[in-house]
Amino acid sequence: EKGGYEHFMLKEMYEQPKAIADTLSPRIQDGKIEIEELGMTDEDIRAIKKINIVACGSAYHAGLTGKYVMEGMARIPVEVDMASEFRYRDPIIEEGTLVVIISQSGETADSLAALREAKQKGAKVLGIVNVVGSSIAREADSVMYTWAGPEIAVATTKAYSCQLIALYLLAVKFARAKGKITDTQMAELIEDLKKIPDQVEMLLGNQEKIQKFANRYLAAKDVFFIGRGIDYAISMEGSLKLKEVSYIHSEAYAAGELKHGTISLVEEGTLVAAVLTQEDLYKKMISNMVEVRSRGAFVLAVTQEGNDEVTKASDYVIYIPNTNKYFTNSLAIIPLQLFGYYIAVGRGCDVDKPRNLAKSVTVE
Ligand code: M6R
Repeated sequence: EKGGYEHFMLKEMYEQPKAIADTLSPRIQDGKIEIEELGMTDEDIRAIKKINIVACGSAYHAGLTGKYVMEGMARIPVEVDMASEFRYRDPIIEEGTLVVIISQSGETADSLAALREAKQKGAKVLGIVNVVGSSIAREADSVMYTWAGPEIAVATTKAYSCQLIALYLLAVKFARAKGKITDTQMAELIEDLKKIPDQVEMLLGNQEKIQKFANRYLAAKDVFFIGRGIDYAISMEGSLKLKEVSYIHSEAYAAGELKHGTISLVEEGTLVAAVLTQEDLYKKMISNMVEVRSRGAFVLAVTQEGNDEVTKASDYVIYIPNTNKYFTNSLAIIPLQLFGYYIAVGRGCDVDKPRNLAKSVTVE
């Protein structure tokens, strides 16, 4: 059933190009984005004043990326909450608020409770869900399915990747409906979206290189992930992947926050993974990398092809192919997933079923 792969996690990582294509292609028709299941006209979209994204774990991280993309492209204010916080904080839901609940399983107790709380306060709720017919899918006003197929490994990979795609589709659609992008810009964005499956495939081909690199860090005590903007969101997901399967302590920091405390933890040999895919932030990131390196950190950089400056501030570089600045998370996550996976394999961990974790958290 693992189709020749050693673990479900590995199999599911390799299923990502197909999962992404399956989530994307039915929603691109005649050069336009069609999300029928949304049940919203362009006029309805223009009436959205605020979006609240609510989720747990990796789905929450997808939501954080969604915030940068939606606000950047469609200029709609977005708040992102962990479901366990949202449901108890008496959130302000006014006329024109769209609540988006993201969940692979559709059964996460806190996310389901947050959905009910939002509905009770009068919000329209959209679910981005992977499991067809699950509780969240049934109770939401509308459901946009991620077509990742069954995900078995506790650590999510392909469902997370499809959540990002669903959020990009919504952002482009909303941006167009609100007149924030032109038809030509939309066509370019769609072209970039269509390239993602092949680009992910190509990045998965780096497997051996990443395994070799991971084997050097099997005894790491702490790993820090740093990034700015959208790359901070992906740092959080990269850090979660590593810690949940390998049991190595890791944290993600907004790179600009390092100086406000965390940098005191960096010692000779500490591994710092720096994600820098946003051209306008390269310089700022490079100076943060120089700072940690001068304190002895070993810096692994994940950046876009063409960023040659990066080599002067890092010890090891993984390049991702060029794409629109809003879509880089879909590519940057691939080496980070592989890194977490191979560290866990090298340490002999139970990769598909990490200790203390369950695939679907149905208790609070
Ligand atoms: O089924 P859900 O998407 O609602 O699950 C949310 C989290 O429990 C889940 O993403 C968890 O953080 C994963 N183990 C991360 O790999």
